[in-house]
Amino acid sequence: MNYRHHFHAGNLGDVLKHLVLAAVIERLKAKDAPITVIDTHAGAGLYELDSQGGEWQGGIGRLIPSEAAGWPPLLAPYAAALGGEPLLYPGSPLVALRLLREQDRLIACETVEEVAAELRRHLAHDPRAAVHRRDGWAALRAFLPVKTGRTMVLIDPPFEAGEDFELLSRHIAEAAKRAPTAIVIGWFPVKGRRAVEALYRRLAGSGLEKLLAVEFLAEPDHDAGRFAGSGLVILRPPFQLDQALRETLPVLLDRMGYRATGSTRVEWLAGEAARGIDQDLAG
Ligand SMILES: C[S@@+](CC[C@H](N)C(=O)[O-])C[C@H]1O[C@@H](n2cnc3c(N)ncnc32)[C@H](O)[C@@H]1O
Repeated sequence: MNYRHHFHAGNLGDVLKHLVLAAVIERLKAKDAPITVIDTHAGAGLYELDSQGGEWQGGIGRLIPSEAAGWPPLLAPYAAALGGEPLLYPGSPLVALRLLREQDRLIACETVEEVAAELRRHLAHDPRAAVHRRDGWAALRAFLPVKTGRTMVLIDPPFEAGEDFELLSRHIAEAAKRAPTAIVIGWFPVKGRRAVEALYRRLAGSGLEKLLAVEFLAEPDHDAGRFAGSGLVILRPPFQLDQALRETLPVLLDRMGYRATGSTRVEWLAGEAARGIDQDLAG
């Protein structure tokens, strides 16, 4: 296993993933009920960005956090979670923890020992957080359902192997059964349509009651193998998040300078006004 998120921290995929993670947590905070965030593939938690360059320049580097006051309102929680140090980018566990309240908690799983140790350091022994050095897929079975409050699960595997697409759909379906009200967010890279449409088809066929697909691409997605951007599938998204994303993502794409080449997509795969996925995929 050679994956290290350091190379990707703050890139276009992280921007989409973390802005949605932050927006969902913020909406859950409208109620006092405790929130449990389960981060199955947590990473190191905080990343020093290379001032000389890196993938972040095509992501958070195009957003200028010091100008966050002018960002679209949906991004306000993400802006708040960034922490104000332009070359220190928070990973998903820290984005979550910076927004969570005293009554909430974070369960973070990471298999690589040094990465889990780094994560523990960055979470600074926060009593709301527990770092587990264990397989995040199996952790879903161990931790779900959470008995009290609301649960939000982030599944963000490295996609080093093609099987992560299959594992993602299987585990979203399993989490949906185990935790009938949990919100589950799964991230995936878009490197051509084939794997993405197969993922949608499997999920749409799993009997899930409410599932939203979101894509945020900087480039056309017909060049199989090249990273065009990324997507999320969101099980049971908070009310009207779909509309907020539909309005905000094109504005963000424009602001990041990808209007000419990129695209956004917000579509129900199940529930609400789901597209007829089988017809769409025919031919
Ligand atoms: C994409 S990165 C996570 C990034 C993080 N979620 C964020 O947004 O900041 C994937 C992480 O999963 C870890 N990993 C790989 N396989 C795993 C598994 N089966 N269970 C838990 N963690 C795993 C990798 O070591 C890597 O740190």
